[in-house]
Amino acid sequence: GQLGMGLAEMLRKQYGTDNVILSDIKKPPPHIFRSGPFVYADVLDYKHLRELIINNQITWLVHYSALLSAVGEANVALARKINITGLHNVLDLALENCLRLFVPSTIGAFGPSSPRDPVPDLCVQRPRTIYGVSKVHGELMGEYLHHKHGLDFRCLRYPGVISVNTPPGGGTTDYAVQIFHDALSTGHHECYLRPDTRLPMMHISDCHRATVEFMQAPECQLSLRTYNIAAMSFTPEEVAQEIRKHLPQLKVTYSPDSVRQTIADSWPVRFDDSNARRDWGWAPAFGLEELVVIKLVYQP
Ligand SMILES: NC(=O)c1ccc[n+]([C@@H]2O[C@H](COP(=O)([O-])OP(=O)(O)OC[C@H]3O[C@@H](n4cnc5c(N)ncnc54)[C@H](O)[C@@H]3O)[C@@H](O)[C@H]2O)c1
Ligand SMILES: *[C@@H]1O[C@H](CO)[C@@H](O)[C@H](O)[C@H]1NC(C)=O
Repeated sequence: GQLGMGLAEMLRKQYGTDNVILSDIKKPPPHIFRSGPFVYADVLDYKHLRELIINNQITWLVHYSALLSAVGEANVALARKINITGLHNVLDLALENCLRLFVPSTIGAFGPSSPRDPVPDLCVQRPRTIYGVSKVHGELMGEYLHHKHGLDFRCLRYPGVISVNTPPGGGTTDYAVQIFHDALSTGHHECYLRPDTRLPMMHISDCHRATVEFMQAPECQLSLRTYNIAAMSFTPEEVAQEIRKHLPQLKVTYSPDSVRQTIADSWPVRFDDSNARRDWGWAPAFGLEELVVIKLVYQP
């Protein structure tokens, strides 16, 4: 998907095109198909995944497959199967074949009873969305298998990722991608969150680099298996203000959506990533100012 394609590009630059295999159950865009090895793989098909691992001498597994939130809400049973059974398959395969395993988590793994400003790595996690509950399950299963069987499980809690393409919608942080698209096209953005809703965000290139650097960190440096990573935290009002420095005519109207507003209000406003900084040297390259320049001037 979105994150996997960019991460593969970064990994291929370091490890060689043929040493990184992308997989999905849907046809990739033509440029991805041409950019290196791509295979069909369904995370629900355990035996086929094992075959791919063995035939290709796989050593590292990055597990990004998930059912989109818009689709997931409409079909919770299928989302549960793909997100949770898929995770269980990947954990078992990693153990069975001595693979190292990276699994992403999210700000959504925290809930209304978690500290919000900032949220530390270790605290109460009682999310109230099925998304958050399954991500906490993933964090705990991976850590359990690490402590019990020595699985090299690594997990990062991503902030809202500001990606290249506009998302299909339904996500709580999606406005932060859409607003740039709207600023450059119609000049008008209608925001589904209140103007003062502060959430942790990150440019996609920082997200990929954090993932690669964390995967490469020597095991002895890791005091945790699940880390928060931060880059910036902003509100719709603040990002609009920053965009107006380049496009003064941008108009933003607010029409809060009660579902997404309630979710956002239960999420942290800032990530404490001091453990990631200390243990494996995490440092973001993009703050709000840099983000706006790259999105508006260079447009990636
Ligand atoms: N994008 C963000 O802002 C963000 C933030 C925090 C965490 N994450 C996490 O990162 C991961 C990847 O996110 P993304 O934005 O790239 O999502 P995405 O929806 O773009 O990619 C997920 C991919 O999984 C594939 N998939 C669905 N069912 C499958 C199956 N049965 N077998 C194999 N593949 C299947 C889909 O076809 C899709 O291409 C997710 O776990 C998500 O929770 C993303
Ligand atoms: C499955 O994952 C997607 C994308 O990460 C998320 O939007 C959705 O809410 C999840 N659903 C469940 C049941 O975990």
